[in-house]
Order: sequence, then structure tokens, then C-alpha cells
Amino acid sequence: MATIVSLGSINLDLQMRIDQPLGQFETQSAHHFSRLAGGKAANIAYLARRFGHEAQLLGMVGDDDFAGEVLAPLRALGADVSRVGRAAGQSTAVSMIFVPESGRKTIVLAANANDAWQAADIDSAVAAIEAAPAGSVLALNCEISVDACMAALAAAQRRALRVVLDPAPPQRAGSGAIHSLWSAVHTLTPNVEEAAALTGIDVKDRESAARAGHALLKEGVERVCVKLGDGSCIAVSRDGVLSVQVKPLRAVDTTGAGDAFTGALAVSLAERQQLAAAIRFATAAANLTVMAWGAQTALPARAQVDEFAVGLRSEWL
Ligand code: RIB
Repeated sequence: MATIVSLGSINLDLQMRIDQPLGQFETQSAHHFSRLAGGKAANIAYLARRFGHEAQLLGMVGDDDFAGEVLAPLRALGADVSRVGRAAGQSTAVSMIFVPESGRKTIVLAANANDAWQAADIDSAVAAIEAAPAGSVLALNCEISVDACMAALAAAQRRALRVVLDPAPPQRAGSGAIHSLWSAVHTLTPNVEEAAALTGIDVKDRESAARAGHALLKEGVERVCVKLGDGSCIAVSRDGVLSVQVKPLRAVDTTGAGDAFTGALAVSLAERQQLAAAIRFATAAANLTVMAWGAQTALPARAQVDEFAVGLRSEWL
């Protein structure tokens, strides 16, 4: 059975609600503190399992107590975490997440073990990609060592596996080394800031998102899905520009929305969904995720996503 192989950051999320914008005071108070398993790759592996697929998580944790804590929800769901490496002398990555009333979070990430890949760790991840069943999909982000990203992209290309790349952070995703392997990417899923950073285009609406999508398409990827701040999406491919719109929902917390989008898109590729259906499915997953607190804890059930997607409007521009 096709597997969603999810490679990238594995973090402990220390998350709290703030009532004042950050940066105004030396110390400010917060409330509703939670300590949650997170990280982009872990969140996507979690979603894939929740949506009924085989999922394999690849990445690095530290040799501390956090390591077991961040992998526990995935183990409980039956995701394969057997090839997650342990970085000696390192802490597991930690995200401090500050969520204001608007739900639009600010994240401060200490990469720790995410950046501590040794050659043997990279070899192990490559071996997992090489052994993935035919039709598997690699979901990748760049919150890990550049060498690991490059080796994963090259391995997926050799296997002709489809790759969904979340270009976060764009400084790494767009850097010469990783950029030279973009031809291995099937779908790129930038948010507005990432699309702007990667293209130099001020992405502020559907039209500018489409321009950024076209610019990125020229870099050798097959599809670009620009996730707009209001929850809608512009997908650019050789077939044209597809817009999926949503009525903005009241966001509780946007932390997991991007991962829900990328993960659902990876699932749609494994299921060989048609383009428009796939983009509606991913947009539905992202929008439902903003309605609850946390990342993995906020991911909706498959049936909810299918139902929400049916009500979404998509149009070719
Ligand atoms: O994309 C959201 C995830 O990345 C969170 O779980 C947090 O770990 C952040 O860094």
C-alpha cells in the first residue's frame, strides 16, 4: 500500500495564548499553556494515519525526555517511527508558539536535533525512501539540514516518487543547493510570505498569487499551491490557474493549518485525486484545522474534511 513518507521537523510545541502583541514588553503574561507534539513532518504523518494511510516519519529527535513525548501520538496511531534518528547530546527541537485572540500565531523555533543529521542518519532516511512501496508520496519541509533535504529529493527522484515540498523556511528551500533539485518536486505549497520570499512578488491577492505561482512553475515543479491568508488557495499548473475560495472562518489557532494542507495534498496524490478535487480537499483540511487549538490536536477527521470539501467552490481563472 502506498505510504506517506513525511520527512522534516519533529518538535515539542510549547504553546500559549497571549492577549497583547509580542515585543511591547520585556515580560508579558500568557495563559492556556499546552505542551504538545508537533513539527511539520510529525503533523503530516499524524494526518496521514488519521486519514487511513500508512505513514512513515523520518527526522531527528534528541536524546532527551522530549523525544518520547513527541513520538508518542504517532506511535499510538500506528505510524512507522522506527527510522527516526536520535542526535547524541542534542535536545529535541522546541517551538514556542504564541497565539493571540486572532489565532494568527507567532512561532519561535529552536531547531536543535532537526539540524543535527550525521551521514548515517541521512543514509537511513534515503534507504527508507528507496524502500517505500510504489505510488508512495514524500512530504518534505526544509526545517532540517540542507544535506538531508537534498539527499531525500534525489532519492525520491530516482524512485519517481511524487514529492510535496513545503518551502519553509524559504531561505533554505530557495537556496542554491535545494533549489537545484526542484525538478524532483511535484507540488510546492508556499504560504503568502514564502511565495513572496521565493519570487520577490508582493503576494497580496489572487492575481499576485497566480503570478507568483507562474514564476515558481518555471523553476521546474509541476504544481504550485499558494495558501492565502484568508484560507483560500490558488493552484497553478500547466492546466491553468485554479482558485478555491472559502468563507473565512473564525480562527482559534492557525498553527497546524499549513501542515493540514500539505498533508492532505500528499494524501490526495497517493489517492490519485483529480486536481480540483485535491485542492478543495486540502483547502478543507486546512480551514477546519484553524478551528481548534494546537496542530495534531486540531486536525479534523477524514469524514469532516470530505463533507466540508463538497461545499467549497473552485473556478478556473
Ligand atoms: O507548521 C506548524 C508546526 O511547525 C508546529 O507544530 C510547530 O512545531 C512549528 O514549528
